[in-house]
Amino acid sequence: MSAVSVIGLGAMGAALARVLMQNGSRVTVWNRTERKAAPLVAAGATLAPTAAAALAASPTTLVCVHTHADTRAILQAAPAALAGKTVIELSTGGVREAEALARWLEAQGAQCLIGMIGTFPTGIGKADTAIVTAGSKAVWRAHAPMLRALAGRSSYLGADVGALAALFAALFLPRQGFMFGMIYGALICERACVPIDTYVEQLPVTLKLVDAYFDVFKKSVPAGDFANPPVSMATLLACYDDVLETFAHGGVNSEMPELLHRLMRKGVEAGLGGEQVTALTKVLRG
Ligand SMILES: NC(=O)c1ccc[n+]([C@@H]2O[C@H](COP(=O)([O-])OP(=O)(O)OC[C@H]3O[C@@H](n4cnc5c(N)ncnc54)[C@H](OP(=O)(O)O)[C@@H]3O)[C@@H](O)[C@H]2O)c1
Repeated sequence: MSAVSVIGLGAMGAALARVLMQNGSRVTVWNRTERKAAPLVAAGATLAPTAAAALAASPTTLVCVHTHADTRAILQAAPAALAGKTVIELSTGGVREAEALARWLEAQGAQCLIGMIGTFPTGIGKADTAIVTAGSKAVWRAHAPMLRALAGRSSYLGADVGALAALFAALFLPRQGFMFGMIYGALICERACVPIDTYVEQLPVTLKLVDAYFDVFKKSVPAGDFANPPVSMATLLACYDDVLETFAHGGVNSEMPELLHRLMRKGVEAGLGGEQVTALTKVLRG
């Protein structure tokens, strides 16, 4: 039976610990707020009294708190416990934090892999979810079966942990753009007395177009070919003019549509009005 420790038992850390136990690992847990460990201890986990004790209990420790800076703060209190250990950091962070954490762990004599969890806690243990990792290839090789038991499509990006942070940002943004679009949609519907149920009903219909966006993106950006758009940037800019007029008329916060309008106008002003909207990559890259 392999021994694994889990530091951080929020929604995600608790899900990781539970699935590790279900897969037969001997799991030691530690959380700043101890009471959150109780359901896992009841299910068979061992409670470590300190983060250092959790590190000492297993050759490998998964850390899942908020940020890399939080992880560093926790581990800095127990540097002596790190030598010879493996840390798999599954908290979220920016490029500089990820690089600093990886360097610092190495300096303490620990091996480090950083992972980006691409699912909700309910997706942990499922075959079609993924944790994309970067850092030590040796750690990835040794822990790939465990990581694939946690998320079936887990993979290794490479040694550069900064690249993983960039990939996180690149995948986070489309999801958030989608959510913010719906929030602004709800605001304008509310102001115009369009029932929210009607809006919610129409959303999946209109969002079928996103598949087509993805196709356009895939065909145009890698090849750098932005010709023959199904809808040109100039046409889209005219739509944004209408949207802004509607928001102004409703007196609704329009920060997001204004930002998108500004970006689209940049493309048209750069002479790309007849091209795919994805041609904006040329303008924004500077
Ligand atoms: N939930 C998701 O759907 C999801 C999906 C993908 C990735 N993630 C990532 O997974 C990580 C954890 O998310 P979560 O949803 O589990 O968050 P959460 O439920 O809010 O739990 C946060 C955990 O971090 C601990 N923590 C935070 N700051 C700490 C500090 N300075 N020192 C010690 N412990 C600290 C908390 O301890 P206390 O209990 O003492 O507060 C708690 O155990 C985040 O990086 C998040 O971006 C989450």
